[in-house]
Parts: sequence; C-alpha cells; structure tokens
Amino acid sequence: ARAQIGVTGLAVMGRNLARNFARHGYTVAVHNRSFAKTQSLMDEAGGEGDLVPSESMADFVASLERPRKVVVMVKAGAATDAVIDELVPLLEEGDIVVDAGNAHFPDTIRREEALRAQGLHFVGTGVSGGEEGALLGPSIMPGGTRESYESLGPILEAISAKVDGTPCCTYVGPNGAGHFVKMVHNGIEYADMQLIAEAYDLLKQGLGASAAEIGQIFAEWNTGDLESFLIEITADVLQHVDAETGAAFVDIVLDQAEQKGTGRWTVQNGLDLGVPITGIAEATFARALSGSVPQREAGRAALPAHATALEVTDRDSFVEDVRRALYASKVVAYSQGFDQIAAASAENGWDIDRGAMARIWRGGCIIRARFLNRITEAYERDPQLSLLLADPYFTDAVGEGLAAWRRVVAQAATAGIPAPAFSSSLSYYDGVRAERLPAALIQAQRDFFGAHTYRRTDRDGTFHTQWSGDRTEQEA
Ligand code: 6PG
Repeated sequence: ARAQIGVTGLAVMGRNLARNFARHGYTVAVHNRSFAKTQSLMDEAGGEGDLVPSESMADFVASLERPRKVVVMVKAGAATDAVIDELVPLLEEGDIVVDAGNAHFPDTIRREEALRAQGLHFVGTGVSGGEEGALLGPSIMPGGTRESYESLGPILEAISAKVDGTPCCTYVGPNGAGHFVKMVHNGIEYADMQLIAEAYDLLKQGLGASAAEIGQIFAEWNTGDLESFLIEITADVLQHVDAETGAAFVDIVLDQAEQKGTGRWTVQNGLDLGVPITGIAEATFARALSGSVPQREAGRAALPAHATALEVTDRDSFVEDVRRALYASKVVAYSQGFDQIAAASAENGWDIDRGAMARIWRGGCIIRARFLNRITEAYERDPQLSLLLADPYFTDAVGEGLAAWRRVVAQAATAGIPAPAFSSSLSYYDGVRAERLPAALIQAQRDFFGAHTYRRTDRDGTFHTQWSGDRTEQEA
C-alpha cells in the first residue's frame, strides 16, 4: 500500500482530479467500474505522475496508505450510494470517504451519519470549476469532521486554485455543510448567469448592437468591478461566430435553458428556510419559462405588448446604467445567498464562516470574481453581519448605482423587455429597506378570514378581531 489518495469514478471530473493530485506529487490510486476508462487514463496521463491503477475495488482499496482517503467521483444519487456500499466493507476504522460529486446535502447528512456509525469519516465536498478547474485547480468546499480535515485538508488545499497564494479550499463545517455551500454556489451561479443574460438582452434591444459588439462591452466591463469568470466567458461567447452559418453563435442557439437541479434545490431550500433568495429563484424560474414551449407559443400568439420601444439617445450612459444595474442586482443575489448560508448554518449547527466561503470562491470556481474580496472584507469587519447589503462598502457601491438601476428597470418595463432578476432584485432592495411593509394588511386579511391572529405595533401580545361579530379585539 503506497498511494496517498485514491479516486474512483474516472469520467472527466474524476480523471482530472486524479491527474491534478498526481501532478502535485501524490501517488494516486485510480479505479473505475469498467477498467477501460482506467486504462485510457493510464495511456493518456500515466506519464504525468504516479498513478496506481486497479481493476477491482478490493485491489484499489488495498493500494492505499492508512488512513485511506478515497475520492468518489460518480453521478450524484443512486450511483454514489452504490459505490459507497461497495467500498465500505473494504475500509477500516478512521478511513475517509470523500464524495466530490454534486450531491444534495440531505443525502450527505444521511451518508455521513451511516459511515460515522461504522467508524469511518464521510466528507461531502463541493468541487467547482468544471473540467478545467478539476485539472488545474478547483475551488473545494469540504464538509465532515474536523479530524478528517487534518489529514485530508492539506492534500485538497494543495490541488485547489490559489489566489494571492491562498488556497481556494477550507474546512466548511460538519456533515452536509460542504455540499450545502456548493449548492448555494450553484444557485448564485444561476443568478449571475441570468443577470448577465438580462444585461445582454437590454443592450441588444437598446443599442441594436450585434452580439460581437456587446461582447466587446462585456470585455470592457471585465476590467472593472464586474471582473469575473462569467463576464469574461460571456465576452468570448458573444464574439464567437458559428462556423456553419457564419452567424453570431448566440443567435443560432435554441433559447431554452436547461438545468441539472442544483439551482432548483437551492430555491427549494430557500423556501424551507424562509429566506428570500429572490435573485436565485427568478433565475431558476426564468430557465423554466424559457423551456415552457406550449406556454410561450400561446403567449407569443395572444399577448399584446402595448410597449414603447427602447430609445437610447446617449449610448455610453445607457451602457453605464446597465452595468450599474447588473452590479447592484449581483450584490443583491450574493447578499441573499449568504443569508441562506447563515440560516442553514444556524439551523444545522454548522458554524459556517461566510467570509471564508467568499475567500475560497475567489478562484477556481464558476462564480469567481474580483468582488468576492469585498464580501470577505465585509464579514471580516462584522462576522455577524445580518445583511451584506448593509455593509458600508456595499451600501455605497449599490447606492451610487441606484438611480441607474431604477432607470433600467423602468425602461425594461416600458419597453416590454423581460428583466425578472433585475427587477425583483430592485424590489428586494426596496422591500428590505422599507420603514413599513404592506405585510400588515396581509396579517389583517389572515385574521379576517381565518382567525390567524396578528400582533400590534403598540403593545405586546397576540390578538384576534371578531370580524363576523361586533369587531371587538380579543387577546388571543
Ligand atoms: C461548477 C458548476 C457545476 C454545474 C454546472 C451545470 O461549479 O463547476 O456549478 O457544478 O453542475 O455548471 O449546472 P446546470 O446544468 O444546473 O446549469
């Protein structure tokens, strides 16, 4: 037994993680259900480092130093359970099973409990950055016991992305915490992508510009506060020309966005926790709307616009308005996502350090961005910060763009251009800063039709009004 870490599941993510470990000087045991994949990895990358192939799970496990560290990189769900079931009888006390797939965090909580009962560590780990990240340095979000992190952490940190020399990997929290944080990362990814798409649509309709011209605007934006992986690739994608037709690539792609489910889980969890993650929710529903083919056909045929076309007189100031609206909406989406992390952390006793999460998202992952530094700083200033938007830096940054944001949302509404994430983020902003909300009326209505009771602004207690009787108030 000489391998320091093993990877089972050698589809593209598993392969690249294995190669990444090997390139960092680790001896890596590799295994796959069908040996052909293991063989092809050896053929392709065997020269990059010390890879130890095994045909059987038993040989694979036997090739690992103790405590064994086994990274499972298979499809989330039943496939993961099947591999764990095969693996567990071969392991010994103190060994560490790392699930690096996109598991749903309740599954991770369940698996961690089951393996702990057998004396094993189960580390549900978020890994972000796609194929390239897995090979060159992903952002890694490991959960599980602190004890497991002592031996596993340094290896994961070694292969993670680095920003200013700091690894984009840190201990997240017990059991499901790592996969939870990865789930919220993906929810934020959906929001970021939707906001970028809305900005693109507004620029397209407002300027009548070509995809390539808009691509240049995004490239320009990528030199400022918005600098991020998603803005950068947007610039590239928009400037890409379809080889077959010579048309802008984005114009020949069917406008129906798909998803594998992590955004949906994030929204479901937001509803469970009662945390208004409206940016992520709008982004997820916007994908659903795009894919609602019969509804869109019916809508296209029947619904009038009664809209006034966008008229842009000053090109530069319109572009700047859209940029500011995008930045402000983005801050809202992150603020909401970090609220969700805080709420789940409190509910599950995870004690997640939000500033550290922003830090490990600065590199490697899909939502990597310059402004994550600002989020880390905000939580360093106040680790208990209850609203990221209320951190002075973000209050100022969003405040400066507020007039532009309002103009853009109003223009979109007037012109009949859907901007669900821009506009709902602005409504959230106005809702969360409101002195008084019309929720009071909702409470009154609930009490009227269902005796659901209400509280008063002027004294403590719970009350009910005799709506169908003499309308006197009773202490409930
Ligand atoms: C990552 C990504 C990745 C995700 C895909 C696709 O962090 O590397 O989040 O994990 O699965 O981006 O997600 P959808 O198919 O749901 O859009």
